[in-house]
This record gives sequence, structure tokens and C-alpha cells, in this order.
Amino acid sequence: MKYRFLRFDSVASTMPLSHEFAMQGEQEGLVVIADEQTAGRGRAGHTWFSPPAQSLYLSILLRPALPAAQLNWLTMIGALAIIDTVQSLVSQHVPRPPQPSIKWFNDVNLNGRKVSGVLVETAWLGDAIDYAVIGIGLNVNTQFADAPADVQARATSLATEFGRAFDREVVLAQLLQHFAARYTRLTQPNGDPIHDYAHWLDTIGRPVKITLANGDLHGIAERIDLDGALIIRDAQGQPHRCVYGALM
Ligand code: BTN
Repeated sequence: MKYRFLRFDSVASTMPLSHEFAMQGEQEGLVVIADEQTAGRGRAGHTWFSPPAQSLYLSILLRPALPAAQLNWLTMIGALAIIDTVQSLVSQHVPRPPQPSIKWFNDVNLNGRKVSGVLVETAWLGDAIDYAVIGIGLNVNTQFADAPADVQARATSLATEFGRAFDREVVLAQLLQHFAARYTRLTQPNGDPIHDYAHWLDTIGRPVKITLANGDLHGIAERIDLDGALIIRDAQGQPHRCVYGALM
């Protein structure tokens, strides 16, 4: 994939901008990146804390040749590209490397705190994907003093966990390189990201509570399916397939 960049000092969110360019016919590989977002959006109506000059807020336009059932793979490779990026920073002589993990479905944690989130939004032409926008927020050097209390309670940054600040351009280059490699692999034979995704998932085997549209479900996270659905077994031994929801 060949990247092209549109850089902004401040936007509400990179996501609607990417949609606009997609609808104007832009090809895949367009990266919309902003120094600050005033209304950064996360999954399920959450906001994404996006102060200026500290971190990475970008969205990548994709036109994937994937069947609808494999759409979740985009979120998975986004999370995996972030893990790859963390691993590449770890290899640079860090005495006590922080531990990355994925919290189903789209959170990347470092030492158990959220360092990054992935948001995929899609547009359809009939049954086929017209385009997808994958939004990635990565807390590089974020200062959380002005963040909402819930963000302060759960979030972290690369700088906090590594104990040093990072050059955002270096991190961005790593992230995009890893993402392109994983994206290319998706359409190759045996290219599914399930094995790698499951490797980093910290959820399997643990008691979980998932908030679904029709209430909370408690159980043990058992495994993930090929489409990324989480299989949870409840106290009565019944398996539940969760395709969307927020893990607590
Ligand atoms: C989540 O964990 O809820 C997903 C967060 C995604 C945040 C990124 S920042 C760049 C892009 N623009 C947005 O408004 N959101 C995504």
C-alpha cells in the first residue's frame, strides 16, 4: 500500500474527514493525521482524549477486498500493528520492557493500561465494502493531567511505560510500516490474523462482564472465532457468541 498524507493542526476528528475524501473517490492509503482533535471519537460513543502536540491521531482510508465476515480483521491488524510498534521500541535496549496486550476487541494495553484504541468505520455498496476508515489513537507522550477522570484512571502512554519520551514521527513511521505489512498479508493464503490476535489477547480464560445492547453478560472468555467474535461461557455452561460489546 502506498501512503499519502494530509496533515492538520487541529480538527474535530480525523474520521469524518477521511469519509469525505473517500466519498470524493480517493484511493486507499490516504492517511489523515492531526496534531490535535477537539472531538476525537472512540467506540460506542466515547470520546478520545486528543490534546495537541503529544500523541498520534490518524485515520487510514482502505478499500479492502474482504468479505463482510472478515471485516473485523481490520480492527485486529490495527491492534497488532500497534503491538508490533511497541515491540520494535522494546528492542531498543529497554531494561524493563512494558508488556503489551490486547483487550477484546480494540484496546491495546501496556502493563494493563490502555495506550491505544482502534476504530473502524465502513461504507457499503450493496453487500460489498466500498471503503473502510481505520482510526488509530496512540498515546505517545500524552500528559493526562487535563484528561477526564475515567481516562486518567485507565489510560497510559508510551512515555509513561517506557520512562522516556518518543519522537512521534518515528513511532508513526513504524506504525504505518507494520500496518501495511499486516494489511498485505490479509489477502494472502492463510492470511487471517486470528492466531496472532489471540496470542496477545489478555481476555481468554478470564472471568469477564460484557455490556451488550440487551444487558450485561457474565462468564468466562473461552476463545475467539474466525470473525473475531468472543465466545463467553456463562455460569450455566451456555456459550454466547459476542460480536459487539464492551468488556468491563
Ligand atoms: C477506542 O478505543 O474507542 C477507539 C479510539 C480511536 C481514536 C482514534 S484517534 C484518530 C481517529 N479519529 C478519531 O476521532 N478517532 C480515531
